[in-house]
Amino acid sequence: MAEKFKAPRGTFDVLPQAMARRELLLRTAAEVFARAGYDWTATPAFEGTDLFERGVGKSTDIVRKEMFTFEDKGGRSLTLRPEGTAPICRAYVENGMHKLAQPVKLAYAGPFFRHERPQAGRYRQFHQLGAEAIGSDSPLADAEVITLLSDLVEELGVPGVELRLSSLGSLDARREYLGELKSHLHAREDELSDDVRERIELNPLRAFDSDHEGTKAVMADAPQLLDHLDTADSEHFTEVRELLTASSVEYTIDPTLVRGLDYYTRTIFSFVCDRLGAQSEIGGGGRYDGLIAQLGGPHTPAIGWAAGVERILLALDEEVVAPGRDLYIAVEGDAERAKAVALAAELRRAGISVEVDLGGRSIKGQMKQADRTNAARTLIFEAGGTARLRDMGTREQQPVEPADVLELIRPA
Ligand code: HAM
Repeated sequence: MAEKFKAPRGTFDVLPQAMARRELLLRTAAEVFARAGYDWTATPAFEGTDLFERGVGKSTDIVRKEMFTFEDKGGRSLTLRPEGTAPICRAYVENGMHKLAQPVKLAYAGPFFRHERPQAGRYRQFHQLGAEAIGSDSPLADAEVITLLSDLVEELGVPGVELRLSSLGSLDARREYLGELKSHLHAREDELSDDVRERIELNPLRAFDSDHEGTKAVMADAPQLLDHLDTADSEHFTEVRELLTASSVEYTIDPTLVRGLDYYTRTIFSFVCDRLGAQSEIGGGGRYDGLIAQLGGPHTPAIGWAAGVERILLALDEEVVAPGRDLYIAVEGDAERAKAVALAAELRRAGISVEVDLGGRSIKGQMKQADRTNAARTLIFEAGGTARLRDMGTREQQPVEPADVLELIRPA
């Protein structure tokens, strides 16, 4: 027997039932984005590899281990996008969006790719929803962007969510602190995990994120960045906090918060959900004031976030009933089947959702199918050439002319 195909490791199919929940999530996100003036954008599913190397950072897990990189036929190195912020910034620079009124507020949704070890809530192809406000360094932008994700989570009804907040300071101010942190790590090198030890010079902040026991002990009394912010960074952070409080967004300060991408400056945040296991972050982000300049654009401060669609769905864990059809057309015998198909086409063009049997079912089978499609009404072409309309809720029936059905069921 021929070998059966399976979806590649870490990927999955979304079947219609599950799709209904995704659609609801996207619709809710679209409303939240539209209300705050974030416009949908889309960038390609792959980019030049150097965009991520330069944007996300060579010392990050994403660039070191998780990218799906391939060569095209012209010998160029391309990578399936592991995240959306570097591509959006590339698009901002390439399309001269700095000439528009600032900040430019963009939203996106789509598939992303990381070669990670698959587990619940962690996949090799997953979906993100994201928002970026590019071209403002004001704490007002931080507060608006964070509130946006908070409102989305609230509106979807995701239970058990906590917002964690911190500041990484600006790049210059951070340098001095990093020196201190490196000395702390070097002094206790033999207690650290190999991974953390290897990256002391490249990316010492990641040590805060380690679940290695020895490393955790070393980090418990490590110097903390929040105690080392300069005056401007500290004031910025205070304002962000005050604005969030004024917008009734609750948060906790987490001085050990770090993120897996190198571009962050100042505010960082993470929404975690206690209903999820190890992969508990449903979304997060922060400021990236240096990224656009790093990608060859003008100095442009910005802030944004991305949320994992699959993680939100896991946290919601409730069924969404797909909306039923307006009408099901059933046919007794075979004589009227062509008429039924033609009427279905006409009604669909008029905006009515209609299903008609394509499988040669008996009238009994068709009535069962009408129930399954959750149709509000069924039009039955009877064997004698007459027709009747049945209300599937009340079970009441009335004789009708098929030509009058549109008028009878057209929503007011
Ligand atoms: P990130 O934290 O790497 O940030 O990813 C954002 C969200 O994507 C995570 O919180 C998680 O919910 C989801 N996610 C990440 N990896 C996976 C995976 N392998 N499987 C399932 N879900 C996953 C970013 O990507 C930044 N671009 C966010 C950002 C936007 N920062 C500023 N603007």
